[in-house]
Amino acid sequence: STNQSWGGRFSEPTDAFVARFTASVGFDQRLALQDIRGSVAHATMLARVGVLTDDERDAIVVGLDEIRSEIEAGTFQWSVPLEDVHMNIEARLTEKIGITGKKLHTGRSRNDQVATDIRLYLRDAIDTVEAELTRLRQGLIELAERQADTIMPGFTHLQTAQPVTFGHHLLAWQEMLARDHERLLDCRRRVNVLPLGAAALAGTTYPIDRHVTAELLGFERPAENSLDAVSDRDFAIEFTSFASILLMHLSRMSEELVLWTSAQFDFIDLPDRFCTGSSIMPQKKNPDVPELVRGKTGRVYGHLMGLLTLMKSQPLAYNKDNQEDKEPLFDSVDTVRDCLKAFADMVPAIEPKKASMFDAARRGFSTATDLADYLVCRGVAFRDAHEIVGQSVAYGLKTGKDLSEMTLEELQQFSDAIADDVFAVLTLEGSVAARNHIGGTAPDQVRAAAQRARDALTSL
Ligand code: ARG
Repeated sequence: STNQSWGGRFSEPTDAFVARFTASVGFDQRLALQDIRGSVAHATMLARVGVLTDDERDAIVVGLDEIRSEIEAGTFQWSVPLEDVHMNIEARLTEKIGITGKKLHTGRSRNDQVATDIRLYLRDAIDTVEAELTRLRQGLIELAERQADTIMPGFTHLQTAQPVTFGHHLLAWQEMLARDHERLLDCRRRVNVLPLGAAALAGTTYPIDRHVTAELLGFERPAENSLDAVSDRDFAIEFTSFASILLMHLSRMSEELVLWTSAQFDFIDLPDRFCTGSSIMPQKKNPDVPELVRGKTGRVYGHLMGLLTLMKSQPLAYNKDNQEDKEPLFDSVDTVRDCLKAFADMVPAIEPKKASMFDAARRGFSTATDLADYLVCRGVAFRDAHEIVGQSVAYGLKTGKDLSEMTLEELQQFSDAIADDVFAVLTLEGSVAARNHIGGTAPDQVRAAAQRARDALTSL
């Protein structure tokens, strides 16, 4: 026998390197508070069903409470030979309260214990992430409302397409995030299921009451199958998948912010506090925050692929492979939380350069479709209208004039269906105001959409 807690059947101590190689305490100590919460609930349940006496339960709860204080104060001595967070805490409990500490693990295994800890951790993390996501959505909705009348070019192929309102563009971002928000809440439902009671894999012979434990820990219900309960990590994959899709969205927004702050676009200004300078070029103001968010997207994609690959082909039930779930999950949580915080702080501070946006929309013949639609209203077939407007644009390119800057005579060279009411549709304001239906870019529609988005957010 060796002095490990599981050393009874061993005749020699673990190799020193193997001990370090298999230990997880370096990273799973992050689960300490969840581990204690889970143990308190387990001991409470064991006392309720008569497996522990009330005195034993009280000694365990008091001991664990002291350990929590030691951990929070940073005085807890973590030990690598004790392998992981679970055995570190249990060993300290026994050190403090003696033999009763050794009873805590009755009817439990580290397999259902660790699965419970991660779910408790992730449930808390989801709530933190959700708060930042809500703050970002609110910021976007408010900015969109303030910018409902601001006109900018809309793009396809990154070429000027049609004028849109800046508020409409911001609400497009908001829609992406609304779907991410739904995915996050959906993921939370599947995280919020209790593994404890599954024990090592087959359940336990003690008369446990898993409904009590579930209720004490705020879980929706006990996991249905003990083999699945200890080996399932798809809840972590689901979170990382949510995080990947969300960051894909943030990276798209980042890309636009980076483009828009450039001198070539010159659509927005980001306050200095979200930017940094160059050590050599004195004139530089770089949009580091969106660039970094764009960059961090890659590591979370990596974690998603890592977790999928970790779980691939694992036979039932628990395998040590599963210890590798933690670092990618923790880093995904940290990354997505920090990126959301950066965006939630930054978005309300975006300063649109309205005149510059407006000029850009005018320069790109963005009302060409409006002129074609105008001709259709006057009886020209759409394909012919397309050709007529194409010729007008070619003329504009040659003469350096936007469609709205041409005289009526100039326009009439291409079609005698054009009359002097054409200028009402050729202006940018007329163009956006005409797209006046649900989902359209008209300022009134943007204001109504912002109100609906706010209602949807508060009714979640
Ligand atoms: N540190 C382990 C993990 O993170 C805890 C579970 C260990 N279980 C076992 N049978 N070795 O997965």
